[in-house]
Formats: sequence, structure tokens, C-alpha cells
Amino acid sequence: MEQAKRIGILTAGGDSPGLNAAIRGVGKTALGFYGMEIVGFRDGFRGLVENRRLRLDKSMLSGILTVGGTILGTSRDKPHRMKIDGHARDMTSVIVKNYAKFGLDALVCLGGGGTQKSGLRLAEAGLNIITLPKTIDNDVAMTDSSFGFATALDIATDAIDRLHSTAHSHHRIIVAEIMGHRAGWLALGAGIAGGADVILIPEIPYHVEKIAEAIRRRSQHGTNFSIVAVAEGAKGVDDARAFAAAESRKDKARSQHERNEAKLELAALEAKHAGNTLRLAGQLEELTHLESRVTILGYVQRGGTPSAADRLLATRLGSACADLIHEGVFGVMVAARGDGTEPVPLEKVAGKRKTVPPNHPWVETARRLGTCLGD
Ligand code: F6P
Repeated sequence: MEQAKRIGILTAGGDSPGLNAAIRGVGKTALGFYGMEIVGFRDGFRGLVENRRLRLDKSMLSGILTVGGTILGTSRDKPHRMKIDGHARDMTSVIVKNYAKFGLDALVCLGGGGTQKSGLRLAEAGLNIITLPKTIDNDVAMTDSSFGFATALDIATDAIDRLHSTAHSHHRIIVAEIMGHRAGWLALGAGIAGGADVILIPEIPYHVEKIAEAIRRRSQHGTNFSIVAVAEGAKGVDDARAFAAAESRKDKARSQHERNEAKLELAALEAKHAGNTLRLAGQLEELTHLESRVTILGYVQRGGTPSAADRLLATRLGSACADLIHEGVFGVMVAARGDGTEPVPLEKVAGKRKTVPPNHPWVETARRLGTCLGD
């Protein structure tokens, strides 16, 4: 088999600490160890469409290990639905054409769930695709972990630590909103590590009364403050039921019209859900008569220097990626498996999401410690 000589690389989806460490891991191994050439594409898949490319030489790969974000820039553009002149267009064939025009032998895509799906599409269109899992949500399927998560976990935990002293001083409830629309790994992990009194995640719908009850119990025992770690996608039981029904209508839709209707319904529910954390804090204040405050951690969780754990993970996944390219293994995601790595066919990853199983050991641990999970 002809060995890959020129590889393209791009970062897609939301940024995450560790992306540069991964670019460096792929780049240094491919360039220095295997003597390949590397071309970076800016701003995700759009870079391939609009020819935003740059040669990644040794000097560009140097000094980026500790830098947050991505030196390549990123976007949420998808190959099959990209906004061009205000219209959504399928740009897959343009990407296929440019891949050939730029003389690429392989394309490395660093991203989360959406990028795995896009990667599979491009692999099916005939390109030599290999992906790496990145996300602070830790919800990419078929990998032990994704880079970005460890850093975000440290940041969210530190925030909960800091909120403790002010909540304690003012005898308040502080509701800390942590990222994670569909998966609660970050809220659950940071909630346990930071000793939150209540942890709410999308996988476990909550009852406001039960949370209030747990907070009141603490007050009865003389503790007049509480920290509630809530994932942005956590929902009360009624909302969760409405979302599940709309999701199921979308999955079972027999026509495009039915599917579009269900999608509209989901979008309306999402819009209604925005501001849920503020509403929750208000409800808790009313039910417990304790003053409540909200802290939305937001993009702070995605920014800044990657932790040592993320640098290590991203570097070893990136380096293993270059090995696989050298071996001619494509159509796979490089998964983290124990201390090693494993190529997993993209078909097994795309369209799947790793959510928190309700009986996961972290969930059980939180329950044993007396943490209220709202159910
Ligand atoms: O997927 C990572 C993530 O940070 C989620 O936790 C969050 O809900 C989302 O991205 C925010 O997306 P955007 O960057 O498009 O606002």
C-alpha cells in the first residue's frame, strides 16, 4: 500500500482545552517520526471548502502544548449543511474535490459527536478520514474519555469550591450551572469532587420539591447553605417527559414533514428551557425561604490552559493517530482505552452519545454520600 505523505488536519465543533496538544501530538509524530507533510485547515470543515489552509511546519507545532483553544480556529459547520451566501448547502462534493486538489492522503478531524458524524459522511464519500474525540461534555461514544473534559472538570470543581465559602457566609443557596446539554458527566464529576449538596443531570429528571426537602433537612441540622450543581440540560420530570415525547416523534417520523414538525417542537421546548436555572433558583428560594443566587459557569469551562491530564490524553491520542495513518488505518476514531488507544470504526461512534447510566458508580457514590440527585 502507498504510504500517506500529506495529511490534512482540522478542528471542528466547540473548542476544548487540549486541541493544540492533540494537533502537536499528531503533527510531531507525523512530521518528525514518519516524515509526512501536514496541512492545517482553519475554522473546521469550512476551511476545506474555502481553501483556508496553512502548512504546519515544525515551528508552528512548537510552543502550543499549553495553549488553550485551537490554533486552527473552529466552527460548527457541517459538510452536508453549510451556510453559503445565507443558504444551507451540501458541500460534501466540494470537500471531496478539494481533498484531491490539495493532494491529501488523509484527513484528521478533531471534534465531538457532530464531528464524528461528519467524519463518517466524508469517509463514506471516499476520503481517508481519521478522528480524535474532544469535548468537555465527555459524551463521545466508544472512548473511555475525551480531551477537554479533565480541564473543564478542574475548572468547575474550583468554582464549586469558591462558591462554598460565599454561600456559607451568607446562608444562601447557590445554584451553579455547569455545561452539558445532554450528558451530565461534568456536573456529576464536579459536583462530587466539589462536594455539592444537590447534583442535577439531564439523565435523572428532578422534582423541585425533593430538592427543597433536602435543603430544608440540611437547615434543620443547622446548615443554612447549600450548593446545587445543575447541568444546563437538567430538567424537571414534566419537561423531561415533554422532551422525550418530542424526541420519540422525531425518531418515529414517517415523512420529512412529520420530522420537521417534531424538530420545531423540540426547538420550542429548548427555547422554553433557556433560563431554567434561574427559574429553579427562584423556586427553591420560595420553597425553602433561603436566599438563592445563580452562577452560570459558561465558557470559562472551555477556556484557558489544558490540565496535565488533558495534555497527556491529547498527546497520546494524537501520536497514535499518526501511527494509524502510517499503517493505513482509516474510517476510525482513535479511542482512549485504559492507558492505551484503540481504533474504533466510525460507524460505531457516529450518532451515538455516551450519557451517564442511572446506575453508574459515580451516581451510586453520590447517593451513598447523601447527595440529593433530585429524584
Ligand atoms: O459541546 C460542548 C459544549 O460546551 C456544551 O457543553 C455546550 O452546551 C455547548 O458546547 C455550547 O455550544 P456553543 O459553543 O455553540 O455555544
